[in-house]
Amino acid sequence: MTRPARRITAGSKKSFGMYEKALALEAAGADLIHMEFGRPCHDTPQLIKDAAIRALQDGHVHYSDMRGEAPLREALAAKLNEFNAMTVTADDVLVTNGLTHASFAAIMAVVDPGDEVILLEPYYPQHVGKIELAGGTVVLAPLDAAADFGINADLIAAKITPKTRAIVLINPANPTGRIYTRAELEALADLAIRHDLIVISDEVYEHITYGGTHISIAALPGMAERTISLFAFTKAYAMDGWRLGYAVAAPNLVEAMLKITANDVTHVNAFIQYGALAAITQGEAAMQAMVDADRVKRDIVVSALNQMPGITCPAPEGTIYAFPDISGTGMGAQALADAILEHAHVVVEAGSFYGPVGNNHLRVCFGSESTPRIEEGMARMARFLNTL
Ligand SMILES: Cc1ncc(COP(=O)(O)O)c(C=O)c1O
Repeated sequence: MTRPARRITAGSKKSFGMYEKALALEAAGADLIHMEFGRPCHDTPQLIKDAAIRALQDGHVHYSDMRGEAPLREALAAKLNEFNAMTVTADDVLVTNGLTHASFAAIMAVVDPGDEVILLEPYYPQHVGKIELAGGTVVLAPLDAAADFGINADLIAAKITPKTRAIVLINPANPTGRIYTRAELEALADLAIRHDLIVISDEVYEHITYGGTHISIAALPGMAERTISLFAFTKAYAMDGWRLGYAVAAPNLVEAMLKITANDVTHVNAFIQYGALAAITQGEAAMQAMVDADRVKRDIVVSALNQMPGITCPAPEGTIYAFPDISGTGMGAQALADAILEHAHVVVEAGSFYGPVGNNHLRVCFGSESTPRIEEGMARMARFLNTL
């Protein structure tokens, strides 16, 4: 049998955790409530769909600018300057197939074989495979649950070696729901500058905040030149199936990423970019309405979880995930998630899926089902936990 390239490692396989276990039960006819994956339950707003349909009818069906359609990049640059407090132009923006493609391009553009890349733990598992495909090594920097999984520069500094090339930041954070404060981001920026590291900043949840202020680390002094900021329409605009995201970075890093994206996809589908243009220029109210609906579900879930025996749950500041502490149940995360699936037919993710530091936690997504289904899911879980 011929072998694949050495860069194809076991770790580069994408894993969907509890979703994969749930599929088998579902195929057998179980009515499962899906609170494990981060798929928005909302439909894409009509004005966004209409704009993409119009673009298709208007003939945006040919090869186009490999960086992304110029009007979209102009609009994104305006948004980045205004909302993210960055100083960028349309030339600094690269349109990608979702954040997944943006992070792949970023990692392939800056990580050499043998380089170490630090992930703050609990981490987002999908970042691991890309680092391994690039020949890099993942180094986990566990955050302290007792300190609300805040950024602790000392814990991260302890993981920096001469081989460290980059730190991946997710802000607002999946799975913890934290929005990092300016002081936390300044501490991380200070580390990056002192050790000459790149920060890859995944801001896919930038708009899904419930009070806290989202700060882009690239906007901090000295960070624009060493940050690759990644965004997507996926979550806030309910456009996960569209596969639309973008990266912004210093000109030399954008050029490097373009060498990856132009070689693998040439460019993102032309007409769907006009849906994104409508989202960014006219979609604010529709997006805010979806975030408001998510806030209602967050409150239902947090309140319900806090009434379950053995569980305590702080309200997430952003994202669509609650990250309750389950240590009072006496069960580990994976065992509890498996039992909830089996006995309550509710799918939640084990915190350990995001690294060992999550072993006393579950990740409960409140954005992926309607409000009545979320209420039903919480009732099922409560009934089960009361039997333990
Ligand atoms: C932190 C984080 N980054 C990236 C993604 C993937 O985004 P996209 O679907 O735009 O590729 C997700 C989706 O759950 C996520 O939670």
